[in-house]
Amino acid sequence: MHSHQIRSTFFAFFRELDHLLIPPGSLIPDDEGMLLTGAGMVQFKPYFLGERVPPSSRLMSTQPCVRTVDIDNIGRTTRHATSFEMLGSFAFGSYFKPEAMEWALRLLTDGYRLERDRLWVTVFHDDAETYDLWRRLAVPTNRIQKLGLEDNFWSMGVPGPAGPNTEIFYDRGERFGPAGGPAVNKERYLELWNLVFMQVIRGSSDVDIVGELPTPCVDTGLGVDRLAMVLQGVDHVLDTDGARRLLPDLPDGPSLRIVTDHVRTALLLLRNGVRPGNEGRGHVLRRLLRRTIRHLRLLGVDGPILGELTGDPVVAQEEAQFGRTLQRGSRLLDKEMRRHGRVPGDVAFKLHDAHGFPIDLTIEIANETGVPVDLDGFHSLMTHHRQTSRHPHPSGRPTAWA
Ligand code: SER
Repeated sequence: MHSHQIRSTFFAFFRELDHLLIPPGSLIPDDEGMLLTGAGMVQFKPYFLGERVPPSSRLMSTQPCVRTVDIDNIGRTTRHATSFEMLGSFAFGSYFKPEAMEWALRLLTDGYRLERDRLWVTVFHDDAETYDLWRRLAVPTNRIQKLGLEDNFWSMGVPGPAGPNTEIFYDRGERFGPAGGPAVNKERYLELWNLVFMQVIRGSSDVDIVGELPTPCVDTGLGVDRLAMVLQGVDHVLDTDGARRLLPDLPDGPSLRIVTDHVRTALLLLRNGVRPGNEGRGHVLRRLLRRTIRHLRLLGVDGPILGELTGDPVVAQEEAQFGRTLQRGSRLLDKEMRRHGRVPGDVAFKLHDAHGFPIDLTIEIANETGVPVDLDGFHSLMTHHRQTSRHPHPSGRPTAWA
C-alpha cells in the first residue's frame, strides 16, 4: 500500500466517524520552550486546555514532525528517523478510551489488513481500565504488557496537556530479534500507533502534575512511515516510498542512512525558514548538517555536495566552513586520543572553543573509537568560561579562556 493510500484510508475511516480534517500545523510551534513540532497534537494544545473551542469535537490530521531525541539511533536501528509524518485522530470530550481503542484496532485489522495475531499493546501500569478494555476487545493477555512513566505516559515535554497512553505494536518476526514483546524488544515489535488519554496538566516535569483538563481528551498518533514499512514489506524506515533515495552510488550502511535521514530533516527545516545557527532551531539544523558532512566524508565524498543536494547556498557555505573545521579538528582529536587513550576535558574544550569542533561530534567520534571523554572536565571548563565571559576582566583584557 502506498503512503498516499495509507493516508486516504485513515481519513476515510475517521471521516465516517465524523472527524473533521485539519491541515498540518507549522513545524515551528507557537509555544514557548518548544523548538519544533514533534507531534500532531501540538497545534491543538489550546483545545486540550480548554483555552479555545475546536472547530469540531473530533478532528484528524497528518503532521510532519521533527524529533531529534533519537538522533544517535539513526543508522543504528531500522525504525528511527529525525523527521516523520504522523496521522492523528483527536477527540475533545466527545469520546474516550473504549471508542479510540476499538477504532484503532478495527482500522489496523480491517482497513490496513494487519494480522491480528501480530499485534501487541502496552499500557500504563496503573491504568487497569485500559488493560481491561483491551481484554474485552479480545486482545490476549499475553500480548498486553504494562510499562511505566517512561513508555506509557505522554506529555509534550513542556508544560501542557498530558496523560497515560497505550501503544500498539506490530511483530515483525524473529528476523528482528528475540520474542518477548515490546517490553523487551522495540526493534522487532514496531510501535505503530500511540493512543494518549489526555487528562491532566503537566507542570515542569512528568511527575509535576498541576491540574486536570476541563474534559478528558483523546490524542492518537499513527506513524505513516512505520506503517508503510510493514505494508510495503521493507525492513528500514528510509526504504519506504516516502523517503527519497539519496546518492544511490554510495555503499549502503549507517553513514548513508544518517546522511539520507539528516538531509531529509534539514530540507524540512530549511523550507520552514530555519537557518543554521548556534542556538535553538538553528542549532538543530546546524547539528544535522555537520553530522551529514562528517558522514559524507566517511563515505569518501570529499568535495562540496550539500549545496547541490539541498539547492541552498547557505548550506553550501556551511559545508565549506565546517569541512575545514572537521579536517583540522579530527586530526587534532585523533592525535590526542592516541596520546592519552581518552579525551581529556581540556582537549574537548579546546576543540570546541578554539576550533569550533562541537562537543557532540567529539563524543560521537570518541564513542566510535571506544575511548572515554572527560565530560566533567569539559563542562567545568565551559562553566568557568561562561562565568568569566559574563564578568570580563576589569581591565578589559581577555580572560584566560577567551
Ligand atoms: N502525541 C502522541 C505522540 O506523539 C500521540 O499522537 O505519540
